[in-house]
Amino acid sequence: MKTPLLYILSLLIFLSQPFLPHAVRCHPEDKKVLLKIKEDFNNPYHLASWNPDTDCCYWYVVECDRKTNRINNFHLFAANVSGQIPDAIGELPYLESLTFHKITNLTGTIPPAITRLTNLKMLTISWTNISGPIPSFLSQLKNLTFLDLSFNNFSGSIPPSLAELRNLGGFRLDRNKLTGSIPESWGDLNPNLQYLYLSHNLLSGTVPRSWGDLNFTSIELQRNRLEGDISFLFGKNKTIQIADFSRNMLQFDLSNVEFPDSLTSLDLNHNRITGSLPEGLTKLNSLYLNVSYNRLCGRIPVGGRLQELDYTSYFHNRCLCGAPLPDCK
Ligand SMILES: *[C@@H]1O[C@H](CO)[C@@H](O)[C@H](O)[C@H]1NC(C)=O
Ligand SMILES: *[C@@H]1O[C@H](CO)[C@@H](O)[C@H](O)[C@H]1NC(C)=O
Ligand SMILES: *[C@@H]1O[C@H](CO)[C@@H](O)[C@H](O)[C@H]1NC(C)=O
Ligand SMILES: *[C@@H]1O[C@H](CO)[C@@H](O)[C@H](O)[C@H]1NC(C)=O
Ligand SMILES: *[C@@H]1O[C@H](CO)[C@@H](O)[C@H](O)[C@H]1NC(C)=O
Ligand SMILES: *[C@@H]1O[C@H](CO)[C@@H](O)[C@H](O)[C@H]1NC(C)=O
Ligand SMILES: *[C@@H]1O[C@H](CO)[C@@H](O)[C@H](O)[C@H]1NC(C)=O
Ligand SMILES: *[C@@H]1O[C@H](CO)[C@@H](O)[C@H](O)[C@H]1NC(C)=O
Repeated sequence: MKTPLLYILSLLIFLSQPFLPHAVRCHPEDKKVLLKIKEDFNNPYHLASWNPDTDCCYWYVVECDRKTNRINNFHLFAANVSGQIPDAIGELPYLESLTFHKITNLTGTIPPAITRLTNLKMLTISWTNISGPIPSFLSQLKNLTFLDLSFNNFSGSIPPSLAELRNLGGFRLDRNKLTGSIPESWGDLNPNLQYLYLSHNLLSGTVPRSWGDLNFTSIELQRNRLEGDISFLFGKNKTIQIADFSRNMLQFDLSNVEFPDSLTSLDLNHNRITGSLPEGLTKLNSLYLNVSYNRLCGRIPVGGRLQELDYTSYFHNRCLCGAPLPDCK
């Protein structure tokens, strides 16, 4: 049985609860801005938790920094929200991560107000109907380490200024309608850039030769109209794992290209690649390879995983032969 003292004590604590000072974390300035954003989006159901009488640090979609209690994370995902990105977003100066993902009814262009978010490290605007050119002013967001503008309706050419983002580790502009060539200035990208996706656009011209000095982990340029050579991206001392250049108009001799041990996936299908398959491919332990629809010739080297791959990895070449294709004549 409980002692009466303990009983009285717990009763006292219970009664005092409503009178304890309740620390509100939310900064009033942030709350004002968020309520403005909610209004600009026409008070959508998705933002129903944004009740002006409650602490904005506990609202859906946003997060507050543990120390400053300022809004540092805004992550709007799969919301039935329509209209443009409100200018008010630029008035959340502590934002480090901003995401608009899978919002089909988000339209218009990226507002210049976004450049006020100088602390932004991650910016994702993907699977939306945002269109227009990719704004050159994004280069002002110097703290960005990750920029993802994939799966939108962007058109026009790639802004040269984005090469000024010297902290980017990952960069996605894939699945848009970008035209023109890779800008001259992009020859000098952040040397620590690891993930580059420009696939599914209408890009033409050649890949900058100086990218041979970079150390990509994953590069995807498939489904564009790129020409020329890309073999300089490989070499024994690289760390590249995934390379997809399929469905372009690349033209180079594959015979003497050296591939690093790190390579796990190489897709070169539908290009104009000549020469033969290098012997070194037999040294790679886990490899997805597709060199179909090119102009390759000669015997498929025997060894490694090369004979285990499906014949469709090799078919439609000028005169490749040997397992898994029919025997050489
Ligand atoms: C997009 O907007 C249209 C028109 O208001 C609406 O019918 C549709 O449900 C919305 N779709 C989504 C996924 O929000
Ligand atoms: C999206 O919101 C609009 C307007 O609020 C509504 O008419 C529509 O049914 C909603 N669509 C979905 C998929 O929830
Ligand atoms: C863009 O909007 C159209 C309708 O206007 C819709 O069919 C399409 O799914 C949307 N695309 C994206 C990526 O949201
Ligand atoms: C990057 O962020 C730091 C703080 O995280 C800030 O001091 C600096 O001004 C920012 N850089 C730019 C270019 O605004
Ligand atoms: C996507 O962009 C094209 C022009 O490139 C335009 O014709 C089309 O209307 C855009 N779609 C939407 C939903 O904005
Ligand atoms: C990689 O190899 C090339 C020549 O094959 C050489 O020029 C370059 O300095 C090497 N880089 C490193 C980091 O070892
Ligand atoms: C690439 O990076 C790895 C470490 O991540 C390093 O060992 C290698 O030397 C680098 N290669 C080049 C060509 O910079
Ligand atoms: C290789 O690519 C061709 C062309 O896209 C495709 O038909 C084939 O199925 C692919 N093979 C494999 C094993 O992925």
